[in-house]
Amino acid sequence: MDNSPTDPLKKANAKTWDGLSRLAFATDWNPETAIDWSRPIELGAIKEGWINILQYFYEGEWQGLEIIQRLMNKAAHLFDTGEMVTYYSTQCYDESKHLFVFRTYLHKLNAPPAKQKAFDPLVFLATRGPLPVERWILATYFTETLAATIFQRTLELDAVDATGKEMIRLMLKDESRHIAGTRLGVQTLMAHSGRFKTALLKLWWRLFVRLAVREVRKLKHHGDQVGMDPEAILQKTFAKMKGLEEFDGKFLSDDFARGFLQGSAAAGESEPEPRTHQGDGHPEPASSTSAS
Ligand SMILES: [Fe+2]
Ligand SMILES: [Fe+2]
Repeated sequence: MDNSPTDPLKKANAKTWDGLSRLAFATDWNPETAIDWSRPIELGAIKEGWINILQYFYEGEWQGLEIIQRLMNKAAHLFDTGEMVTYYSTQCYDESKHLFVFRTYLHKLNAPPAKQKAFDPLVFLATRGPLPVERWILATYFTETLAATIFQRTLELDAVDATGKEMIRLMLKDESRHIAGTRLGVQTLMAHSGRFKTALLKLWWRLFVRLAVREVRKLKHHGDQVGMDPEAILQKTFAKMKGLEEFDGKFLSDDFARGFLQGSAAAGESEPEPRTHQGDGHPEPASSTSAS
């Protein structure tokens, strides 16, 4: 995995909700002007696969935005942390910008977003029933880390055009902050969960992650068309999540998760993020990560 000093995922280093909000204010970008939309988009052979992947991303951004709106206030009350609402408002704003750029880009390719309801069952599972806030935060740790990993891979692909890379690079910076925020959320929920609740959440996580992995694998055909291997993406995603030590011990210790982590080690991926010990919030800036 990319562990270089220029890794955009290493830049978000705020250790508090307000710190992350301020970082968001300081790094705001205008989706209408930050990208040169006048440039023609040439895609060649990857066009069909790339458009299909972006359609899923558009849907994912939409669902992500909808869930945050629904649960951020509940989360702030549950953990008695009003600053969460401020932070999650910045994340809503980010996701709405991501929707704008995906929509604009897809329109330029004459492939306007078509709602595929691809993730509706996952969203339903993640937000209904008991412990919705906790299950949402855990699910988001996977989805934000996955999105960032895919964005990073996209930037390595020669076939993706300059406009596509420009928008992905901007979104990756936001995603880096979102991962940092999600890590804070995961640490908060682990600190508020006793043995019984943790056992329930582990069951939930195991179910969710299996379903999510299945969805990612369904995209193999499109991935092959653009040069993106779902298994490699999944291995990197699990390796990044492992960076949160307490989470690793509690949620990544079963054979399913270990399979991806072993695959990632065998592929020579270094551990992407420094281990973060419970209670110290986030890794230090030099080693800190972020998320997507
Ligand atoms: Fe996003
Ligand atoms: Fe995000």
